Amino acid sequence: MTTEVYLPPDTLSRPDRPAYEELSKKAEEDPIDFWAGIARELEWFQDFQAVFEGNGVTGKWFLGGKCNIVANTLDRHAKTWRKNKLAIIWEGENGETRTLSYHALNREVTRLATVLKSMGINKGDRVTIYMPRIPEQVIAMLATAKIGAVHSVVYGGFSTDALRERMMSAESRLLITADGGYMNGKVVPLKEIATEAIKRVPSLESVIVVKHIGQEVSMEPGRDYFYHDLMSLKLANLVQTEPMDAEDPLFILYTSGTTGKPKGVVHVHGGYMVGAYCSTKWVFDIRDEDRYFCTADPGWITGHTYVTYGPLINGATLLLYEGGPSTPYPDRWWHLISKYGISIFYTTPTAIRGLMRYGDAWPKRHDLKQLRLLGSVGEPINPAAWKWFHRAVGDGQCPIMDTYWQTETGMICISPLPETPLKPGSCAKPLPGMGAEILTESGEPCGPNEEGYLVLTRPFPSLARTLYKDPEEFQRIYFSKFPGKYFTGDTARLDEDGYFWVIGRSDEIIKVSGYRLGTAEVESGLVSHPAVAEAAVIGVPHDIKGNVIKAFVALKPGFSPSIALEEELKAHVGHEVGPIAKPESILFMDNLPKTRSGKILRRLLRAKELGLDTGDVSTLEE
Ligand code: WT7
Repeated sequence: MTTEVYLPPDTLSRPDRPAYEELSKKAEEDPIDFWAGIARELEWFQDFQAVFEGNGVTGKWFLGGKCNIVANTLDRHAKTWRKNKLAIIWEGENGETRTLSYHALNREVTRLATVLKSMGINKGDRVTIYMPRIPEQVIAMLATAKIGAVHSVVYGGFSTDALRERMMSAESRLLITADGGYMNGKVVPLKEIATEAIKRVPSLESVIVVKHIGQEVSMEPGRDYFYHDLMSLKLANLVQTEPMDAEDPLFILYTSGTTGKPKGVVHVHGGYMVGAYCSTKWVFDIRDEDRYFCTADPGWITGHTYVTYGPLINGATLLLYEGGPSTPYPDRWWHLISKYGISIFYTTPTAIRGLMRYGDAWPKRHDLKQLRLLGSVGEPINPAAWKWFHRAVGDGQCPIMDTYWQTETGMICISPLPETPLKPGSCAKPLPGMGAEILTESGEPCGPNEEGYLVLTRPFPSLARTLYKDPEEFQRIYFSKFPGKYFTGDTARLDEDGYFWVIGRSDEIIKVSGYRLGTAEVESGLVSHPAVAEAAVIGVPHDIKGNVIKAFVALKPGFSPSIALEEELKAHVGHEVGPIAKPESILFMDNLPKTRSGKILRRLLRAKELGLDTGDVSTLEE
């Protein structure tokens, strides 16, 4: 098999930056010294005594060290000339703009942290954040972390049940939300959804509401407070950044797993901070003169690590854009890139494929000459979309960093660096210090280009420490299939040059437009409708979205299939779980295929749908 290889432009050579080989060699020779050196580039309240303690890939990092990620995100920069540098440039979907310098961001975060503390939020308490993409979303995350509380950001595109479930699981004491937000020309009534969601969350004591869209919202006295009222209070003593143990939790981020309940992935201050810092520096090569734009929402891991923490720890200027890429026209991002002089742009294959559909004319209308580096994340990028992104957006001059990682890994694991020769569709090689292998079902290494399970083989500081309140599940999902190694759940192949090619999920997770959905979540959304007896969903390949959801539904007696019911069920899932979980199509069946023990045979439905081999069906019920 011959693949085209793209070499980096000469302009990217950096004499002041160690090359990939040099870093990797160092990491290989002495991983402890390697990670300790990176960690010590950051500020610690108290140095750590041990770098890593654990077995296999899991363990604790930077033991005895005292730190706070916010000390490195804000306090450190506020003491230098960077206090005058822009931290955040924000643009709303309707075109309004705001900017915050590092000084201003630090001031706002400190004020909100003081407010939170005065409301009785303590170290270790959970705070749920359900916000549109506005600066207050980032401010809320940082303020929570500053006082040592634990944030759980819930994507603003999720609906009532998803929000409620996540608040219940985390036992959140406080919710920070907004009256609403704009997305793709529509208003999302966040406070209204939140009011509904908190009805059955006993732990919840207070709600802080940011006025953003200016819509009238119902406020419950003694429970709901406007952000702006709280922030204008006279605050006597502003809080200091709380020194935390390196292993203290920083955030919980719920993500879809193989069971109906979303999993609360737990990341900690020390290791996550180090991973976010070095990966942003290596992969995006961020410099003070850069302007960086990652289109992710802070409600996802990409938005935690590569909108918020990674760029800010590196002292970068970032663009936060509230809305969708085609509002009002499908050149909104190209317009933003030219307007703000963006030099590093990071987005998803789904977005690229979606915008590619509108043709070259849209990016051509804008001056994108400031761009020097592009990035892709969330799902495999097909070579056609890669080449379009490279040519039409990057003018053939900007290497594309196809970054492979997960909510659980906290940081990018497999990715090119700017100087790496690129193969469209491959995420290249493990980052320095990381190890990856492709294994067969029985745990043997696969041969060149043979498809197998992707595992991570070396410990790295930002790997999730546990699943919230479910350490057994954490062990079972990630460490039981291949003992001593971390199982990603993905299949991939490794080519003759040591380049990784991710194929896709091997489990009950479907990536729709790069969003991660569990089949069980969508199914329980369907089954919660009074007409539905049973439901099974599968992922079906789609040109733009990567995959879409196809649902198979058996109705309860007294209900019969109709187009109206199909539409009603789609809307129901959209309302219960969130718009991203809506099935693309629904097939009504009398019965779903099941094993004799009653398990729905999703595999069989999928094989039939995609015209694949149906495999072993001996367990099929009559
Ligand atoms: C899953 C993790 C990590 C940021 C956003 C997604 C898929 C992620 C790539 C890539 C192929 C990718 C995998 C992975 N994935 N990046 N560059 N190439 N597949 O985080 O929601 O936790 O999803 O996304 O299937 O396991 P996530």
